[in-house]
Amino acid sequence: MASKILTVFGTRPEAIKLFPLIHVLERDDRFVSRTCISAQHRAMLDQVLAIANIAPDHDLDLMTPGQTLDELTARALTGIGRVLDMEKPDWVVVQGDTTTVMAGALAAYYRQIPVCHVEAGLRSGDIHHPWPEEVNRKVVGSFAALHCAPTETAAAALRRENVDPASVHVTGNTVIDALHWVTTRIENEPALASGLAELEKRFAGKRIIGMTSHRRENFGEGMRGIADAVKRIAARPDVAVIFPVHLNPNVREVMNAELAGLDNVALIEPLDYPHFARLLDISYLMLSDSGGVQEEAPALGKPVLVMRETTERPEGVEAGTALLVGTDPDRIVAETTRLLDDEAAYAAMARAHNPFGDGQSATRICDLLAG
Ligand code: UD1
Ligand code: UDP
Repeated sequence: MASKILTVFGTRPEAIKLFPLIHVLERDDRFVSRTCISAQHRAMLDQVLAIANIAPDHDLDLMTPGQTLDELTARALTGIGRVLDMEKPDWVVVQGDTTTVMAGALAAYYRQIPVCHVEAGLRSGDIHHPWPEEVNRKVVGSFAALHCAPTETAAAALRRENVDPASVHVTGNTVIDALHWVTTRIENEPALASGLAELEKRFAGKRIIGMTSHRRENFGEGMRGIADAVKRIAARPDVAVIFPVHLNPNVREVMNAELAGLDNVALIEPLDYPHFARLLDISYLMLSDSGGVQEEAPALGKPVLVMRETTERPEGVEAGTALLVGTDPDRIVAETTRLLDDEAAYAAMARAHNPFGDGQSATRICDLLAG
């Protein structure tokens, strides 16, 4: 009999990293695939659902403006629990480290439904960076039945925590599957990513710096440091910064106050995935505190300066395509300037590396779920 898989997710990065798996599950008659979104994110999640052509079976529509962690956790736990009681799946699949992931996995555990954790085993070793994601991952890692680690480093971290080695598998990261998929879509239909053309024209002749920033642990001083650095970098006539601003009001208030109206900075709305892939493509380098961007940029050979104190994704740093620069504006400016002015330093970082997988992760995870 086909195994019923309920995939639970809630934010933009989870949707990006799960759509390749959902596509494969839907085509495989060993499974009945069902989906539940918490909609912890709304607009940013809907952008991914639209391009990936996914119509969720359950939409809890949980997002409220400026939501708090405890309130969101409580509503996600009870909402997802109700869906589990209705669906009674054989497996619950979650991906990553958000509140939805932790709450969805916990709701499954409370019903003794086995959990498959995609992108398991990432650890920074610091429960305050990334916050609260490091603990969310550890919670799920403590009871998942199947741990799909993207790399050997992540698998080793789980084994160090005494997770049963038989339940840990290195599958690669599904973000590479997603990136391949979107690249092929754009090749076949360039109009999907043509919306940046005006900005590309406005900034012709300048080197583009693609940027994202949204981490909770950077709110306040960290965000102001990042904004200050961008202001100084964008004062150069030979660069332009394109920054799709995350919808979190804690990000938007600071960035709009500090960066709006600067000639060489385009503050734009969150891009859908094809347009973000285009931004990666046209960027000389990336400035980001995002998890996903740390994985995508190395795969495309784009240097990424990671505006965080620690990373649970050391592979990009080890491969030499990512560098941790924190949120101190002097350091961000210095490292960006080095990449802009020192050709050898740039060439050393701008090499494509694929520590995060080969684009076949979703198929491997499916086979593991089939047992
Ligand atoms: C969440 C995750 C973080 C992940 C990030 C990806 C948690 C605790 N945090 O952070 O791990 O890296 O998503 O982007 O799970 N908002 C909108 N529309 C949207 C999305 C967000 O308006 O489509 C605004 C709302 O005011 C919302 C706020 O952003 O309350 C915060 O959203 P939330 O999901 O709690 O946190 P993020 O900072 O997005
Ligand atoms: N992304 C996107 N549009 C944007 C910014 C990012 O589609 O405007 C994609 C990006 O390619 C990556 C993912 O969103 O796959 C990263 O999400 P985010 O930075 O919000 O979360 P994190 O990865 O830090 O959890």
